[in-house]
Amino acid sequence: MTEQVSVITVDGPSGSGKGTVCKRLAATLGWHLLDSGALYRVLGIAAARHQVALDDEPALVALAAGLDVQFIADPADEVVRVVLEGDDVSGALRTEEAGSAASVVAAIESVRAALLQRQRDFALAPGLVADGRDMGTVVFPAAPLKIYLTASAEERARRRYNQLIGKGGGASLQSVLDDIKARDDRDMNRPVAPLKPADDAVVLDTTELGIEDVLGRISELVKGRLAP
Ligand code: DC
Repeated sequence: MTEQVSVITVDGPSGSGKGTVCKRLAATLGWHLLDSGALYRVLGIAAARHQVALDDEPALVALAAGLDVQFIADPADEVVRVVLEGDDVSGALRTEEAGSAASVVAAIESVRAALLQRQRDFALAPGLVADGRDMGTVVFPAAPLKIYLTASAEERARRRYNQLIGKGGGASLQSVLDDIKARDDRDMNRPVAPLKPADDAVVLDTTELGIEDVLGRISELVKGRLAP
């Protein structure tokens, strides 16, 4: 069974710092990384490619079940390339459109069920860091260490805005904040696998914390919970 491999789950809303924290944590430990949001994003992109509407449940489930996606780690620049049906979609994956489409398809229970085993298959020795919304509550409920990262919506919007500006994109802080709040609302209030901390998760509010502080706290928890 997959859960004999140690799993650290990191859940939280967009902009909470999960992505960076998980990448750094997996690299430090030498463990595998599951970016579960990328799976939902790829599904949104696949739907657009195959002209499947985001409310066409049977077609989305079929697409999810047969999703031809590969995650190819590139150790040279610490980037994971995402290849859908033979095409590199790593760039398209990170757009706001892909994030919104992901959030819509991710609200459909049968779509989540179709992607469940694919996510569990990432749990390979020596261990897995799993980044998402329901890693601790649904996908890896027996994980020995569960983290829930959060931050105020305003701070998360500022971080996303700075990223977009840094990449040369245009956006207004208000529109980024509106998007974040809409995504929170969809992710937290959906009936299936809503975003929430697992009962046994350690909640870290990163509003006032830098990435190094967060990693420091997590490595203390790793030593306490997972040391042999
Ligand atoms: O983490 P992210 O921004 O790449 O996730 C994109 C969307 O996918 C997010 O709005 C909600 C959904 N998602 C989910 O429902 N469950 C997960 N485990 C990961 C992401």
